[in-house]
Amino acid sequence: MGADLAIKNLHVNVEGQEILKGLNFEMNRGQVHAIMGPNGSGKSTLANTLMGHPAYEVTAGEIWFKGENLVGLTADARARLGLFLAFQYPSSIPGVSVANFLRTAINARHEQADGGDNGNGQPRGISMRDFRKLLKEKMAMLQMDPSFARRYLNEGFSGGEKKRMEILQMALLQPEIAILDETDSGLDIDALRIVSEGVNELMSPNLGVLVITHYQRILNYISPEYVHILLGGRIVMTGGPELALQLEERGYDWVKEAVNK
Ligand SMILES: Nc1ncnc2c1ncn2[C@@H]1O[C@H](COP(=O)(O)OP(=O)(O)OP(=O)(O)O)[C@@H](O)[C@H]1O
Ligand SMILES: [Mg+2]
Repeated sequence: MGADLAIKNLHVNVEGQEILKGLNFEMNRGQVHAIMGPNGSGKSTLANTLMGHPAYEVTAGEIWFKGENLVGLTADARARLGLFLAFQYPSSIPGVSVANFLRTAINARHEQADGGDNGNGQPRGISMRDFRKLLKEKMAMLQMDPSFARRYLNEGFSGGEKKRMEILQMALLQPEIAILDETDSGLDIDALRIVSEGVNELMSPNLGVLVITHYQRILNYISPEYVHILLGGRIVMTGGPELALQLEERGYDWVKEAVNK
């Protein structure tokens, strides 16, 4: 049996330049992994590539998830399979309310590939009543003011509010692998704890979380079993939580020396 998510020899070009250069990585649901690495090392490139962002061109390698090679699948198809990305820089959608966006996203996530319906010729979907209940519950978990549901998505949201919004999305979509790209950046000390506790509440044997971060702090709350270092387009080192502490203390020079970069 292979891992739930298995990335093999991944090469990715962005704007014609090779950013990921033979990256290997594996993780299972039920686990927390962290990826750390210097600015520009390719962490967001990896996240965006996993989600199928069209600007990221896979020139070689494979991404196996639930028995399918994701390379070539649309972002939409990947989300339906249960992959989720909390963006480093979430974008706003003026004119679309948070509630409408989330309900549409939930329905799209659970839409059957065969266009399955509810038996009455109506597309399958969450009822307004169930949706409201679920939204209220998850917003309370993340200590978000209910009035956010009526605002336009991310329009005028503070940096921290946007990050919380990403985790609300995750809570509602119930992915199987969630990638959190610097969700901690921009969160104040209390918000970091609240958001982390929210992620921990969502943890289950069916959810694997990949935390991309620069700082050890978030890992105090969301404890990873494995910490990986991404450098020069590859995972060059893997260790336990102590690796994050070591980086905090010593920076990346010693890693570069150790791997000769
Ligand atoms: N859409 C893009 N267009 C042009 N260059 C890009 C694009 N995406 C990534 N790159 C380049 O690829 C390299 C890796 O960027 P990436 O965003 O993956 O780094 P990162 O490890 O996430 O860094 P950070 O820690 O600063 O978030 C950088 O040199 C960046 O400029
Ligand atoms: Mg990044």
